[in-house]
Amino acid sequence: MRPLILCAFLLAPAFGADSIRFLAEKRVFVLDAGPNTYVLGLNERGEIQPLYFGQRLWRDQDLPGARTMPEWASFDRTSTTTPQEYPGYGAGLFVEPGLKVTLQNGVRDTVLKYVSHEIKGDTLEIRAKDLGYDLQVSLFYHVYPQGIVEKHTVITNKTPNVLTLESAQSGTLHLPQGEGYRLTYLYGRWAGETQMVHEAINPGVKVLESRRGNTSHQANPWFAIDGPEPVSETHGPVWFGALGWSGNWRLAVEQTPHQQVRVTGGLNTFDFAHTLKPGESLETPPFYLGFTDQGFGEASRAFHRFQREYILPGGLTSKARPILYNSWEATTFDVNEQGQTELAKKAASLGVERFVMDDGWFGARNDDHAGLGDWTVNPKKFPNGLKGLIANVKSLGMDFGLWVEPEMVNPNSDLYRAHPDWAMHFPDRPRSEARNQLILNMARDDAKEHIFTVLDKLVSENEIAFLKWDMNRNASEPGWPEVAPAEQKKMWLQYTRNVYEIIDRLRKKHPGLEIESCSGGGGRIDLGILRRVDQVWTSDNTDALDRLKIQEGYTQAYTPKAMMAWVTDVPNFNGRSTPLAFRFLVAMQGSLGIGNNLNHWKAEDFALAKKMVAYYKQVRTTVQTGKLYRLASPRDPSGFQSSQYVAEDGKQSVVFATLHSQQYGRPVPILHLQGLDEKAVYRVTVLDGRPVELSGASLMHRGLELRLGGDYAATSVLIERI
Ligand code: GLA
Repeated sequence: MRPLILCAFLLAPAFGADSIRFLAEKRVFVLDAGPNTYVLGLNERGEIQPLYFGQRLWRDQDLPGARTMPEWASFDRTSTTTPQEYPGYGAGLFVEPGLKVTLQNGVRDTVLKYVSHEIKGDTLEIRAKDLGYDLQVSLFYHVYPQGIVEKHTVITNKTPNVLTLESAQSGTLHLPQGEGYRLTYLYGRWAGETQMVHEAINPGVKVLESRRGNTSHQANPWFAIDGPEPVSETHGPVWFGALGWSGNWRLAVEQTPHQQVRVTGGLNTFDFAHTLKPGESLETPPFYLGFTDQGFGEASRAFHRFQREYILPGGLTSKARPILYNSWEATTFDVNEQGQTELAKKAASLGVERFVMDDGWFGARNDDHAGLGDWTVNPKKFPNGLKGLIANVKSLGMDFGLWVEPEMVNPNSDLYRAHPDWAMHFPDRPRSEARNQLILNMARDDAKEHIFTVLDKLVSENEIAFLKWDMNRNASEPGWPEVAPAEQKKMWLQYTRNVYEIIDRLRKKHPGLEIESCSGGGGRIDLGILRRVDQVWTSDNTDALDRLKIQEGYTQAYTPKAMMAWVTDVPNFNGRSTPLAFRFLVAMQGSLGIGNNLNHWKAEDFALAKKMVAYYKQVRTTVQTGKLYRLASPRDPSGFQSSQYVAEDGKQSVVFATLHSQQYGRPVPILHLQGLDEKAVYRVTVLDGRPVELSGASLMHRGLELRLGGDYAATSVLIERI
């Protein structure tokens, strides 16, 4: 870690067992989050100033108090040179504000000053207020043992008039002053999600965002910053963070002219104007921040563990993800009781645990032109309702899941004919269709209640264990004509809140129900939705080769437990054919699913799949809840990729290794395993091989030599502690 600015004052030690404490003499807050410490102070102007975020500190005497920085000529006043934890736009501030406000009388100046604070266990609330008018802001902090600090704010209008928020951010991460940092983020598009980019942070602002109404494929609300010295998977300081929000979000990564690197995250300011009547509040989404000095690998592991414990429903006690079969790629819209039952029989013979019927089962849905909105079973395809198919699936020992796309409507549907106003639109303007569908304005209470009622009925009347909740387009014409023009932009926020509310209410009423978040693949993956769903559909792109990079990007930010990965048919949409074993061994690096048309499989495919499914069951707890070590990146020009998972109790580890194409007869690199006990002896079994016994020291230092050659080769190694 970089050295601290040394403090001249020496005070009595205040270090204790409390994770959050206020050092009254220095006016400093110390927040200990597991291996990390976050420090804030109040400067002489009463502003809240960030002082430190990094490895754990143990000596409160070492901490400096907050102090304002001198101005830089007349052009950068001290309001801009002094780092502020949550600055309002006011008093000549030229960095990204946390808050920008317009009062009814036209005043557009906000200067927040500390008022009071309260510490309750692992939560700190710092209350601030504008220096003049009664706008109150509470900054909330919560610390978690994995080194994560969660921030959000509650902004309350205590003035007698309506005011408008033009920016409401969740918070800012400040790095130690300096240059030469590097930003890592995830970008993409449909079928090409979570592509990892590294780039130098230079003066100016880089904005990562979604303006699409949901999280988006285009960018994911996660970032990491490393450096200035070179950082790898295993070494070096990495700060990282993610927003828990599935609507329009924004991360502004900024290097100021004063070498301050800061990341401000929260609600997107684009098309944002949120009015607050007297007494009303706005709560911003959570912004989760972390730090490690042990490289990108440890950054991911800490974040994965945090998500499993504190974000995913059920926490650490939640079930392992069942192996599912999904009918989409096999039958598309052509579903019926008999055909699905045939597929279910074949899936069950492989050891599949959950059968999911995808699109096409409802309304007049024979292709993507009709039916969305009419969530009643198509009687021609399912004369016995869903009950017939569900009984068959259950008799085969599997549970049943169903695809829905609740937020959408086809103009050719009974719902749209009854409620054309429910679609997002502006009056007298065209309604742009995408995939022949429009979006229901879920900000409307009536639309929200209708969707809740329909889904509740579906789940109450049928034994549905799982819903795949899809969203196959992004917003256009984001109007909400039923409310006053000044209120209409609230649609962005209220839409997401209402979607969350429906899911929360459904889960409360049906505690056994599990949900997958899908938006044409990975368009809605973030820590807001992951609080309320059990898994996500990573990408509609199931080409195993493409998946390696998508999965690598995904696991930077999110736990493999929630990452659904299916084996599907070839040639795939790239026209590529890879062997079935390769496809399995790629998909088994997350939560395994199968989406092949099993009616086309030969006996040897069934035999191989059965073996792979059985193997996955043996290692899945380790894959889903273990520690992930990315041993070789699919971005490496060698074409060799490998990931290793180590069970939390250290008793099992599993390695997956894939080779895109061998060249020049070159052997694959020796694999140096990680996370094992040097002193322990392990039984090491390469897939289809005979076990050998090796020490942890040998596996980690001497390494493993795998024999992988040819194209699309893959293997796995099971390592069991003796
Ligand atoms: C989206 C999903 C697919 C499938 C189709 C059905 O594209 O990502 O997995 O469910 O919709 O229309």
